[in-house]
Amino acid sequence: MAKSTLLLHLHILLLFISSSSSSAAAAASRPAFACATGSPAASLPFCRTSLPIRARVRDLVGRLTREEKVKMLVNNAAGVPRLGIAGYEWWSEALHGVSNVGPAVRFGGAFPGATSFPQVISSAASFNASLWELIGIAVSDEARAMYNGGQAGLTMWSPNVNVFRDPRWGRGQETPGEDPTVSGRYAAAYVRGLQQPYGGKGSHGHNRLKLAACCKHYTAYDLDNWKGVDRFHFNAVVSKQDLEDTFNVPFKTCVVEGKAASIMCSYNQVNGIPSCADPDLLRNTIRGQWGLNGYIVSDCDSVGVLYNDQHYTSNPEDAAADTLKAGLDLDCGPFLAQYTESAVQKGKATDGDIDSALTHTVAVQMRLGMYDGEPSQQPFGNLGPNDVCSSTHQELAVEAARQGIVLLKNHKRALPLSTTNLRTVAVIGPNSDATVTMIGNYAGVPCGYTSPLEGIGKYVKTIHQMGCTTVACTGENQPIDAAVDAARKADATIMVVGLDQSIEAEMRDRESLLLPGRQQELVLKVAAASQGPTILVLLCGGPIDVTFAENHRKIKAILWAGYPGQAGGAAIADVIFGAYNPGGKLPVTWYPEDYVEKVPMTTMAMRADSSKRYPGRSYRFYTGPVVYPFGHGLSYTTFSHSLARAPVEFAVPVNGRRRADYINSAESNRTVRVTHTRCDGLHVPIHVDVKNVGERDGTHTVLVYSSPPTGHSAPAKQLVAFEKVHVAAGSQVRVIMGIDVCRDLSFASVEGIRRIPIGDHSLQIGELTHSISLRAEGLRV
Ligand SMILES: *[C@@H]1O[C@H](CO)[C@@H](O)[C@H](O)[C@H]1NC(C)=O
Ligand SMILES: *[C@@H]1O[C@H](CO)[C@@H](O)[C@H](O)[C@H]1NC(C)=O
Repeated sequence: MAKSTLLLHLHILLLFISSSSSSAAAAASRPAFACATGSPAASLPFCRTSLPIRARVRDLVGRLTREEKVKMLVNNAAGVPRLGIAGYEWWSEALHGVSNVGPAVRFGGAFPGATSFPQVISSAASFNASLWELIGIAVSDEARAMYNGGQAGLTMWSPNVNVFRDPRWGRGQETPGEDPTVSGRYAAAYVRGLQQPYGGKGSHGHNRLKLAACCKHYTAYDLDNWKGVDRFHFNAVVSKQDLEDTFNVPFKTCVVEGKAASIMCSYNQVNGIPSCADPDLLRNTIRGQWGLNGYIVSDCDSVGVLYNDQHYTSNPEDAAADTLKAGLDLDCGPFLAQYTESAVQKGKATDGDIDSALTHTVAVQMRLGMYDGEPSQQPFGNLGPNDVCSSTHQELAVEAARQGIVLLKNHKRALPLSTTNLRTVAVIGPNSDATVTMIGNYAGVPCGYTSPLEGIGKYVKTIHQMGCTTVACTGENQPIDAAVDAARKADATIMVVGLDQSIEAEMRDRESLLLPGRQQELVLKVAAASQGPTILVLLCGGPIDVTFAENHRKIKAILWAGYPGQAGGAAIADVIFGAYNPGGKLPVTWYPEDYVEKVPMTTMAMRADSSKRYPGRSYRFYTGPVVYPFGHGLSYTTFSHSLARAPVEFAVPVNGRRRADYINSAESNRTVRVTHTRCDGLHVPIHVDVKNVGERDGTHTVLVYSSPPTGHSAPAKQLVAFEKVHVAAGSQVRVIMGIDVCRDLSFASVEGIRRIPIGDHSLQIGELTHSISLRAEGLRV
């Protein structure tokens, strides 16, 4: 998010200077909380907790002058001393733990660190929605505790739910992967955990929040810096179809099902309009169609970027007016505080535009309790330093790491390793003693680390060699020979290689999918010299083409550990030595290296186009060769599926007046518009029995894919349901799922209209296939 211009560096620097200069006396010098006893406004209606939030917001906004209001339109919002309202820094982050990327969070003093959970791409690999929510709850406890202590805000600009469209994207690690359904479920679960709403809903309800989450970056943002194209200048050319059934899906689910209190618009343009200045994307879609109850914030300096870098408007007042009118409520950056007043004076914006924005932001602050006096006397007021890095949270971090590890290859059950025959294990590779690498980006200061070397060392005696001086691993002076010697002396070799933030990061997209520099050479030389089995562990967010290792006779097993968080090394060792049976699955397709030659990163299209030799993107549209497919992941046991219940026919009721629309299409190609049916309760029940036919207990995620009847520009297949279960060896568990017909069995037409194809939909569940015939009811044709 942090923009690498001088302007913003200066801005951040100033924020840090102003916060750190007072850090010693932070708690003491903290401004009085709005509406606390003795505050000048304590008796005014906006302080009255018995009134509905809406009435309190109206009262407060009505008391402010225009000058006061415009200074509240930015992340570093000014206070209103005459009303006892302190300034507020809106920018906090909590992607996978409380993070200090946002200036409102400060570690130190009573809060030296916070639990650093696995990076999101790793948690996504667990395919366990309850885990996602539990992590959110743990993070919100820690953030509230830090807020109570004056070291964090309550508005978290997390999670990042952009679809991981291209394997090169440096920020793909922050996302739940390439599938819109998984991303949406992740978004809803994590947001629910972070926000933990309470206090009732409805117009007189209080609709309270523990924290306010923010799904970002809306929309079609997934290019940072690739071959001279950067996100500040990129115009994403996106079809209505892809926008509707790929890019916007997680955001819609985040708002509609997760009830997120905020959405962040992105830097890039979408079809020629900066997303933060597009009334169709913001006001009409997020607020109008999805019904956001919350605020829309710009990515940091976006408003400045669309004026200064994109030259979208010819003067700054138009940039301010365009974004406010489009539906932007808060600017991360100084721009709206600088230019909104003159925009009103020049007749480009109105006081009504300002009030509308402020009404949305203040309502969220009120729902968070920021106008209810001292936090210590409110719900969550008891949370403090003991709730941060608690043993429960740290144990959850290890558990999440275990659940996110994916076993990619396990030739002849080489894993788990038994410690009984091993005197020493060589632990080799540039990530073998990784610490900060394990927490990925948008992290904070963790409670502590367990590196892979330490984790493995708890099971066996180790000999350690880095093999490469850095992850980039370039140049002559790489200690490869020493690594080869170590492997020769040991009974088994564990190599921990992959990427880090020097290779994939914000503002750093990759150009190649291969291991960096001489890492592959290292792996090959070490494997050749190893006495016993070689186990390859990959630490990385985006996929790597490891075809050479998949095909290598001496590399017996491959694990993808993503960026597994503060205790990742313990989880890796638990999997390698069999204390934990892996059950993670890949949340993205692992493409071969030549994919990046065929596909420019700047081409947004999801759908393949054979006339242009364009192979398409993600398992939903791409049909070429893969290194590992989406959903791949092995276990130390074997599962089988059988169908316990699934209809063979399912009726889709059609609103009578819309009959013509249905009848007029070709018979082979009939669809029902989602808006022409009654979606409520339109769920296909699917009950699957999962049997563990192996010898070890294990967890398994049932993935249900659906392929539509032919003749539509729908995805070839789409994940429509998934559920993770634990199954003891030799036993069977029934998994009960439902397919939401309107959401899961529909696709977007070229006009971006959701339609449900009528005819035979083929479900695939592991080795099973099952056909469900959808027919339109209330029609005779
Ligand atoms: C199928 O229907 C869509 C509209 O619903 C139309 O655009 C498309 O051309 C039709 N395809 C065929 C093969 O009839
Ligand atoms: C999902 O994660 C939670 C939290 O770790 C755990 O309690 C539960 O057992 C997991 N589900 C499965 C099926 O493993």
